[in-house]
Amino acid sequence: MRTAAATGPLEVLDVLWDCALPSGERIPVRRDDARGLLAERGQHRGARLVDALPAREDGTLDEDAVDQVLLAVHLELARLSEFVHVPQAMAHSLAPIIARLRDRAGGTIRVVDVGCGLGFDTRVLAASGALGADVEFVGLDLNALLVDAADRLARAESIDVRFLHGDALDPCLAIEDPDRTLMISSGLLHHLGRDALPAFFARHAELGVAGFAHFDPSPGFWTDVGAWTLHRTRMREPISRHDGAVSMRRALPSRDLLAVAREGAGDAFDLACDEVPRLYPQPDRIVRPVVGHRR
Ligand SMILES: C[S@@+](CC[C@H](N)C(=O)[O-])C[C@H]1O[C@@H](n2cnc3c(N)ncnc32)[C@H](O)[C@@H]1O
Repeated sequence: MRTAAATGPLEVLDVLWDCALPSGERIPVRRDDARGLLAERGQHRGARLVDALPAREDGTLDEDAVDQVLLAVHLELARLSEFVHVPQAMAHSLAPIIARLRDRAGGTIRVVDVGCGLGFDTRVLAASGALGADVEFVGLDLNALLVDAADRLARAESIDVRFLHGDALDPCLAIEDPDRTLMISSGLLHHLGRDALPAFFARHAELGVAGFAHFDPSPGFWTDVGAWTLHRTRMREPISRHDGAVSMRRALPSRDLLAVAREGAGDAFDLACDEVPRLYPQPDRIVRPVVGHRR
């Protein structure tokens, strides 16, 4: 299953759907296989959430029911992003990176958001113009259902952003001019998992993109407390609550993110990822980027 990391805990959404690449054609998922992936990692609550979903006579999950869950969970995720001002925090971190790119290579700068989901962050960044009129946005996700929904939402809101179906591990179809391309993501790194991250960063180096800024939660006690509280108070879907808690357990500390980025990309980028002090809560820094500037 493409979105299921090889090791560590899994989110329920990771095991509910699968697709062939590059076509994006959906591959039916057997409910027993999906629940088995969770049960074999000791995630019995997650396995019960899969059991509750309807399956067809042949044992495969009902795709309409899965689509409804996917959209419901991602809509809750978008509302949470809105509530805690994720796009604004991203704009704040991205502005100096964009300014540096602008100095090095004039012309239009393309920001490619990999694992964009419903594209909420990208749509807000594009609509606000916060990063400048010379910045264009492309969103890319493995899940065609989410890509279609993101595209519909952008068109309904008349926001100038394109959404493409594709794999974050090989995002070449979203890149035309690597010297003017900044790769970004929000909440993707922990989905890919530690084992896949060196290849993810290696591909950035091979493609020669100008830089990257991948945002993921900084794990720790206060992050767990904050995430638990937010998911309990702001989310209704049981799968949202389950997956929200698991994502915090999957996220990597800053030093590990730097290590996997260095392992994959070698010396191609100057890297940075702030350590977030753990002694006291810092809500605005729970999600922080690992940043790379091509040398
Ligand atoms: C936690 S969601 C984050 C979505 C969005 N960035 C946000 O912040 O709301 C992770 C997203 O990564 C996507 N994803 C997982 N593996 C991927 C891959 N290999 N290539 C592209 N997208 C992927 C999933 O489909 C999902 O939309």
